[in-house]
Amino acid sequence: MTAKLIKGTEIREEILNEIEEDVKKIKASHDRVPGLVTILIGENPASISYVTLKIKTANRLGFHEIQDNQPEDVSEADLLALIDTYNSDDSINGILVQLPLPKHIDEKKVLNAIDPDKDVDGFHPVNVGRLMIGGDAVKFPPCTPAGIQEMIIRSGVETSGAEVVVVGRSNIVGKPIANMMVQKGPGANSTVTIVHTRTKDLAAHCKRADILIVAAGVPGLVKPEWIKPGACVIDVGVNRVGEKISEKTGKKIAILRGDVDFEAAKEIAGSITPVPGGVGPMTITMLMKNTLKSFKFQLGIA
Ligand code: GUN
Repeated sequence: MTAKLIKGTEIREEILNEIEEDVKKIKASHDRVPGLVTILIGENPASISYVTLKIKTANRLGFHEIQDNQPEDVSEADLLALIDTYNSDDSINGILVQLPLPKHIDEKKVLNAIDPDKDVDGFHPVNVGRLMIGGDAVKFPPCTPAGIQEMIIRSGVETSGAEVVVVGRSNIVGKPIANMMVQKGPGANSTVTIVHTRTKDLAAHCKRADILIVAAGVPGLVKPEWIKPGACVIDVGVNRVGEKISEKTGKKIAILRGDVDFEAAKEIAGSITPVPGGVGPMTITMLMKNTLKSFKFQLGIA
């Protein structure tokens, strides 16, 4: 059997088109567009490329976009003051501070300084709490888990009563996606197990999964024999395992590998996300969706 591919690149286009339509309609009725600020500190190449993509996507959607680049040595106090300025700027609905931050800045302090109602990353403790409560309390689900759930829903995978096994317990992916899948509601109602580095028999847990979500950051961790035939496999891993020359651009690019042995797994799974082109493209998409949501809250039309 060859698994159905769950392509993030295609689902991204569907969702971005929906957002674009919504933005056009609201602009016509309210003469306003969503506003997003991206704050980038320093010149980390990976951060620059993520932020560039975020800006490009926001522009494509017709958002008001502010790109606020700060030097590597910006003080923590200045950064906190900057966040405060955007907190009280009514033209801004979403504030994104690109992580990681330089060592002299306390990440927790910075994330906590963002107004929870503009925290489109969903990292503020208030939004983590809202996610835990579930239902109408949820304002901004964190972007990668939200993208995973959206992919599962849009590819027609049954989640109600399904055994979901999440490999990894990070605050950004493992814990929130486990929390989301256990809630009442569409794309959820699952029975969830989280496994991690101290789990005694990883393979035994994975073998029971109807939906296996892997966010461990270990290339090829999940072996094909751990996959239940017909299962849905979501591979969140984006591991750089080498470099190659791009056929398109002639430039050096990273060779990416997921946490799952894709070639063998696709012969066993019912559906599977590729790496790259699976979960990756969904994160920025959901950031845009959260920014639109924040804008609608502001206008009282959410
Ligand atoms: N750095 C890597 N991924 C992310 C993300 O999703 N949000 C922010 N703010 N920084 C990141």
